[in-house]
Amino acid sequence: MSDSAIGEVLVSGDDLRRRVAELGRQISEDYADRDLVLVGVLKGAVIFIADLMRYITTPCEVDFMAVSSYGSQTDSSGVVRILKDLDAPIEGRDVLIVEDIIDSGLTLQYLMRNLNARSPSSLEVCALLAKPDRLRVDLEPRYVGFEIPDRFAVGYGLDHGQRYRNLDYVAALEE
Ligand code: IMP
Ligand code: MG
Repeated sequence: MSDSAIGEVLVSGDDLRRRVAELGRQISEDYADRDLVLVGVLKGAVIFIADLMRYITTPCEVDFMAVSSYGSQTDSSGVVRILKDLDAPIEGRDVLIVEDIIDSGLTLQYLMRNLNARSPSSLEVCALLAKPDRLRVDLEPRYVGFEIPDRFAVGYGLDHGQRYRNLDYVAALEE
């Protein structure tokens, strides 16, 4: 894609594929003999979860939630609204939230609280990307694909104003 808003490559397509495969193998090991439900957070996690689940070799189901966090275009406020809830109950099940990126962590903190209240057997997080310098809450994701610097990232599902989700690598937005 030739677009002057797309800056430096943060994670190449090859590195994404290698790491996503590795995460899939790890999750398959960790969740063998469990009752795994992957919960993808729309829309950013769509590409990640689609690739990740093909590397999971143990039985699993997939469900989706859509949330919107109030805030500016590049900063979330922690006030989250559920736009689409899960299709099925998760009580007694092993839930793994699949998220595109942890920035402040406020969105995930809200999601964790909300899903925990439904009494899953376990609740963990798998995030493709994390910006450790921006984290504002106490959150320990079980799986993180890559830690990235404090830049606004686009591609591989991540958008800016709904664009650039279709890039097959992760790049910094040129601001
Ligand atoms: P948080 O609540 O600050 O952790 O932000 C989480 C959500 O904001 C993510 O699920 C993304 O949808 C969005 N977001 C945060 N940082 C970025 C970024 O660098 N690029 C694209 N979306 C982002
Ligand atoms: Mg998101």
